[in-house]
Amino acid sequence: MAKKDISVRAEELRQQINYHNYRYHVLNSPVISDYEFDVLLRELQELETEYPELLTPDSPTQRVGGQPAERFQRVPHPAPILSLGNAYDADEVRAWFERITKLDDRVAGADFSVEPKLDGLTVVLHYENGIFTMGSTRGDGEYGEDITQNLKTVRSLPLRIPVGETDVEAPRRLVVRGEAIILRDAFEEMNRRLEKAGERTYVNPRNAASGALRQLDSKLTATRPISLLCYAIIQGEDSQPSRQVEVIEYLKQMGFPIPEETYHCGDLEGAISVGDKMARRREKLPYEADGVVIKINDLILAADLGFVGKDPRGAIAFKFPAQVVTTTLEDIGVNVGRTGVITPYAILEPIEVGGVTVSQATLHNFDFIEEKDIRIGDRVLLKRAGEVIPYVIGPVVDVRKGNEKPYDLPRYCPSCGEPLEQLAGEVAVYCVNATCPAQLVRNLEHYASRGAMDIEGLGIRIARQLVEAGLVSDVADLYQVTVDDLLTLEGFAEKKAENLLQAIDATRERSLSRLINALGIRGVGVTVAGDLARHFRSLEALQKATQEELEGIEGIGPNIAATIVDWMAQLSNAELLKKLQLAGIWPTEGEGVGAEPGIFSGMTFVLTGKLPSLTRGEAKSLIGRHGGKVSGSVSRRTTYVVAGESAGSKLDRALAFGVPILNESSLRSLIERKETLDEG
Ligand code: IVH
Repeated sequence: MAKKDISVRAEELRQQINYHNYRYHVLNSPVISDYEFDVLLRELQELETEYPELLTPDSPTQRVGGQPAERFQRVPHPAPILSLGNAYDADEVRAWFERITKLDDRVAGADFSVEPKLDGLTVVLHYENGIFTMGSTRGDGEYGEDITQNLKTVRSLPLRIPVGETDVEAPRRLVVRGEAIILRDAFEEMNRRLEKAGERTYVNPRNAASGALRQLDSKLTATRPISLLCYAIIQGEDSQPSRQVEVIEYLKQMGFPIPEETYHCGDLEGAISVGDKMARRREKLPYEADGVVIKINDLILAADLGFVGKDPRGAIAFKFPAQVVTTTLEDIGVNVGRTGVITPYAILEPIEVGGVTVSQATLHNFDFIEEKDIRIGDRVLLKRAGEVIPYVIGPVVDVRKGNEKPYDLPRYCPSCGEPLEQLAGEVAVYCVNATCPAQLVRNLEHYASRGAMDIEGLGIRIARQLVEAGLVSDVADLYQVTVDDLLTLEGFAEKKAENLLQAIDATRERSLSRLINALGIRGVGVTVAGDLARHFRSLEALQKATQEELEGIEGIGPNIAATIVDWMAQLSNAELLKKLQLAGIWPTEGEGVGAEPGIFSGMTFVLTGKLPSLTRGEAKSLIGRHGGKVSGSVSRRTTYVVAGESAGSKLDRALAFGVPILNESSLRSLIERKETLDEG
């Protein structure tokens, strides 16, 4: 290709990629598969590597993060980035309205824009001739920090405007204000992932978003699921809208993500009622919001009203009823998880927050208690955010009386009394005693769970009863329990006891892979268990496996391999396996086993096109191994279409039916994600 053609092609690619990125991350309606997207991106990356002079500031290849920064530059804002006054109830909103009506009669007939007040990090985005050139934090409102590199990793941020099918033209200069947030679902998934990797989890989406954007290394920022919602123009051209609802519409047309829950209200009472309604739905919003912002729609009138300090008079934050309260931390308890991990929780003087009475809350991990210097007897701030379990934010140091007691890290397991250990490189503290009763309860629960031995009726409550009554001291003891034993437990009558024994007995039919999963070895979930079962075919063979042999199995890395070897080497575990064998629980795996129950159970896949590394047969067996079925044609009931290069009419049908489309790598990450959920 001639040099000129190459630069034309690069431009074409940038446009296409930015457009598809917008379809995916802003509109949530992609029109090409992830695979096709990756192909475009790769082509651009290759061109830019060969001809670095083609790299432009709006290139989508820059979303993965660049060189770490030494520090952030301080940058002036083109106009002050204002704050907002607060109203804590409807009467305070009405009082605000009366105050400003007295200043200007036009207010009496005003209409309003009502938007969620997003709880994130304010960002200021600069566009020159449609190109995103700089983004900063709010800072002190006059100066912010230049976090351009980090912001470029945010997928829903347009690198060039307008995006999409529109005939609007990019203004010469545009400075937009928005809020960087992490959606609730993405937040929880991220924390699960971090926890699994033994890394520190985040307290709330706001902290996570703000921490990630203030990272000096943008490659790290790129790994965090940050979203953006824009709601104001800080600087633009004269022709720009002079009403807030039109500003939102204009931003949307330019390709910015905007808060969908924006309302136009004809009068103040209407605005208040939108706020009240949203407050009731706050937990169902996809993001955390701490109120609504009521804005006078006429921006000229709003500007004429001026400010009080840093708060514009023309808008007010109508806060949702507090979900942060203070209460007394009566004690700190600890839980023992199935893998022996010890986690602290707060025992609180019961208090109502967000309509629910709370007497316990999470304290994350022991480092958190130390860092926040949380002491027993402290008044603590407690927050309930959405569906999430309430958490302690920190102590109210000012009201300390002096009799609060610093917390000592537990040295012994609260359940079995054995010394606790901190594993190298992990924040977590563990009880490593395999016969610890608290772990045993969790182990039993896991052994009986659906993906494992599937014992109907055996949940955590009965597991606890069995352990507390001394009937069961490892999972193999389940097979020795009698009806008479069960009748000694509270809530058990003849029928219930018989049903449970029958359900236990039914586990003799379970496959080897289920049993391996049921053992609860760390890192060995449904998929790894399936791989192990297929490879070793019996528990004897697995018991003898070496680190090398295990690492040789596709999908098993050195860490899991080591955990398995260690687990097998422990005497108590060897004894457990012996007992299971004596009880007759010793399945082997034959050749050519059918679809295993797994994370894809009940799902139908259709393959189309050529995948980058899997043959058709391999893809089929990968899906089959996780319990999925592969079918030849796409229907409305198809769960996923997996598309590769030169995908044909099946892809079109999938698009027409709205069947989600995966490529090879998204298929793999779906497996990983599902497994995390499964094991979490
Ligand atoms: S308007 C002059 N609209 O809330 C206009 N702010 O307490 C001032 N915020 O840091 C801001 N969602 O970043 C506005 N829809 C929204 C908002 C919003 C969240 C933040 C804003 C500011 C804080 C003010």
